[in-house]
Amino acid sequence: MNAIVNNPAATVAATDWTKIDTQIKHQGKEIVLPSDPTNMDYDVAIKTMERVRDQENQEFEVSELVKGAPWDTLVAVYRAMQEIYGVVLSESIKTFFGEIKPEFVTVHTGHKAEDRLQVPSGQMSLPGVSKPIYIGMGGNGTTIYGTVRKRDRARLVEIANRARALVQSASVYRAKAIRLDVDGDGDLVLSRQPEFLDLTRVAETDMIHTKETGDLIRTNILAPLKHTQECRDNRIPLKRGILLEGKYGTGKSLTSRVTAKVGTDNGWTFIMLNRSQGLKAAIEFAREYQPCVIFAEDIDRAADREDEDVNDLVNMLDGLISKDMEMMVVLTTNHIEKIDRALLRPGRFDAVISIDAPDAETAERIIRVYAGKLLSSDADLAPVGEVVAGMIPASIREVVERAKLSMLTEGRTSLTVDDLRISAVGMKRHVALLEPKKAEKTSAEQFAEGFIGLIGDKLSAGDDVAQESSLHKIAQGLAGQFNSTNKKIEGVSMRATMAAGAADKAANVANEAASFAKQASDKADAILAEVS
Ligand SMILES: Nc1ncnc2c1ncn2[C@@H]1O[C@H](COP(=O)(O)OP(=O)(O)O)[C@@H](O)[C@H]1O
Ligand SMILES: [Mg+2]
Repeated sequence: MNAIVNNPAATVAATDWTKIDTQIKHQGKEIVLPSDPTNMDYDVAIKTMERVRDQENQEFEVSELVKGAPWDTLVAVYRAMQEIYGVVLSESIKTFFGEIKPEFVTVHTGHKAEDRLQVPSGQMSLPGVSKPIYIGMGGNGTTIYGTVRKRDRARLVEIANRARALVQSASVYRAKAIRLDVDGDGDLVLSRQPEFLDLTRVAETDMIHTKETGDLIRTNILAPLKHTQECRDNRIPLKRGILLEGKYGTGKSLTSRVTAKVGTDNGWTFIMLNRSQGLKAAIEFAREYQPCVIFAEDIDRAADREDEDVNDLVNMLDGLISKDMEMMVVLTTNHIEKIDRALLRPGRFDAVISIDAPDAETAERIIRVYAGKLLSSDADLAPVGEVVAGMIPASIREVVERAKLSMLTEGRTSLTVDDLRISAVGMKRHVALLEPKKAEKTSAEQFAEGFIGLIGDKLSAGDDVAQESSLHKIAQGLAGQFNSTNKKIEGVSMRATMAAGAADKAANVANEAASFAKQASDKADAILAEVS
């Protein structure tokens, strides 16, 4: 760029300056005109400036969507405007119906009462921007729109770009733990703000498992969270799918809290879903918040409903999360037997972790954690461990709570091993009551018994021992038949719990069984008729 100087060598054909995008800048105290490819003369310069002035005054519709979660993107847009302009003024809109006051939205940024931000939405004016703009929040992000002059358009795009960067770097959800609700269609409920989880009282040491289970949880779930950068450096994928399996009360939900704690302490965003049906939508959502853990409990509720759900899930785990994403999906189930085999094949999940029942040593550690300072650290817990081994951790915790009550009742301030042992024995009996009662005899056995009893009566009347033994054999044969029919019914009814359609078949087989039983009893009658 040159100041106005004549270049005597410039005898080239005149340039068509209307075809060149001539930039006009304010700078210093000179007017600088272009010299490339030829010197611009004053008349052309005046025309060019008029043209640029008219263009700048021309109005454009602008609509820039900042993608992401509604409230989060609203905050990002507000922060971007503040960064770029310092002040942002909300304006009332004067309409035919009267004045609409600017709206302030309260955005939650954490679990504490004071974790709140007031963010304007609606119409606002920006310094130097001649017309007001509108900020609107929608399901997939926040839109900045307005009818503005050309030079203002660039500023709105600048705000949007800055807001996009802020969603990545300074989201209100980044490195926080949130719970997202999922509706019946598997969509995230984004009309309400996500709930922030309070993890202040959660510690990794809360979770007590056998050595094997503990090692599996630490290596598969916690290690990538704690050593994220080392994983990146060593090309260990941070895309992981994990299934955590174990009975009710074994600590799956507790593991979710510990995962949330360890994750958020290490810069991971943690998303808890209330239904696994929302996984697909949650993975979409979580794209903006990587590295991110998605935790969905009781996956079997989705997996056993319809084939479509199972396939969806498999495809999603296989395809939706690409290799380069930093996303860990942890699913839990109380009913591993209800999960489709296809899901359990190696390659679908990076790990399937079974939570073992606590052995005596693990049980003792659980007792020590819940007893805390009330129990002397050198107390020998072997007599208690032996009773509670194999009980689910939730019940072991209850053993300790009950022991504390007897301690209080007796006016003591510390727990004894005996408090715990007595409580443990009581709990064991309590748990035993909850076990499903075993039928004393199978129906086949009952049938055979009744049958023999019936015939036995008639026989003693006829006093024929030889016939009795052959009838005995017939009865046993019938019982065997009955048994195998019974097994068929059991097999069918098991499948019925997994697929509602199988119920019909079960009924058919049950009918067969009934007609078989009818035949058997007719036969028996015929035999009886012969005997008597
Ligand atoms: N492995 C464990 N270690 C320590 N406490 C446990 C463990 N498992 C369960 N508990 C206790 O039992 C409670 C209920 O367990 P939870 O995590 O809800 O089980 P799940 O989700 O497997 O049904 C927990 O809040 C905790 O107090
Ligand atoms: Mg649970």
